[in-house]
Amino acid sequence: MSPPPRWFTALSKLFQEYPQANVTQLATIDKTVPRVRSCIIRELISPEGNEHLPIILTTTDIRTPKVEQILANDTAQVNWWIESSMDQFRLTGKVTLVPEPANRVFHSAGNIGFERLSAGGFDWEVKRVQVFDSLSGHMRASWCRPIPGSPMKGGYGEAKKWPETIPTTTGVTNEREKKLVEQALGNFALILIEPTHVDWVRLGVMPDQRTFFHRGDDESWTETIVVP
Ligand SMILES: Cc1cc2nc3c(=O)[nH]c(=O)nc-3n(C[C@H](O)[C@H](O)[C@H](O)COP(=O)(O)O)c2cc1C
Repeated sequence: MSPPPRWFTALSKLFQEYPQANVTQLATIDKTVPRVRSCIIRELISPEGNEHLPIILTTTDIRTPKVEQILANDTAQVNWWIESSMDQFRLTGKVTLVPEPANRVFHSAGNIGFERLSAGGFDWEVKRVQVFDSLSGHMRASWCRPIPGSPMKGGYGEAKKWPETIPTTTGVTNEREKKLVEQALGNFALILIEPTHVDWVRLGVMPDQRTFFHRGDDESWTETIVVP
């Protein structure tokens, strides 16, 4: 159908060129208080046949406060600074959460790229497991810990009891590992952000440039060149 918006083509190219520049800042709203934290972008999804509706994928522990904040207010903002090229992308959009199937998908009404992919038979559980398996064993083990943010009564030393690393879903060799992988997968969720507003600042060009992109109700993107 429609081609991807220009900001997405540029961001995808930069992400390919500088894959280590994957740490972004994700902002959510906690009642009236903004909350911001680092999150790693794992994938940029360009829905086949609906390339004008791209999706940004990050991951989290379903037990973290950001999840509750998203459930209460499904709009989030990602700020992505790519130092090597001096580009900043500020992406605002609705969020869909993909936790383990028993918890069901939390689907934001604004996420039509997500809807179209799902209607076309895209299997989000397959994607969730694939992303889980692609992460490091150390990272996977982090979803076996107690609830993030809960007090450690025994101090830092308590962490010695936690598993350091766990295998992939296909790499388990015993019952203990199987249980740990099930536990980690149960806490693991995808966060899908479908931007509708993008503010792209290019400091790597002289003079610097700034462009607003807006996706309208008719799904078309408009661009406005603005003063940086
Ligand atoms: C470099 C870096 C990358 C991080 N990536 C993620 C991530 O991808 N997902 C995530 O949930 N937390 C990530 N964290 C931890 C979060 O920043 C945050 O501390 C944690 O998720 C709890 O956030 P919350 O209490 O606001 O929900 C990262 C932290 C750092 C320092």
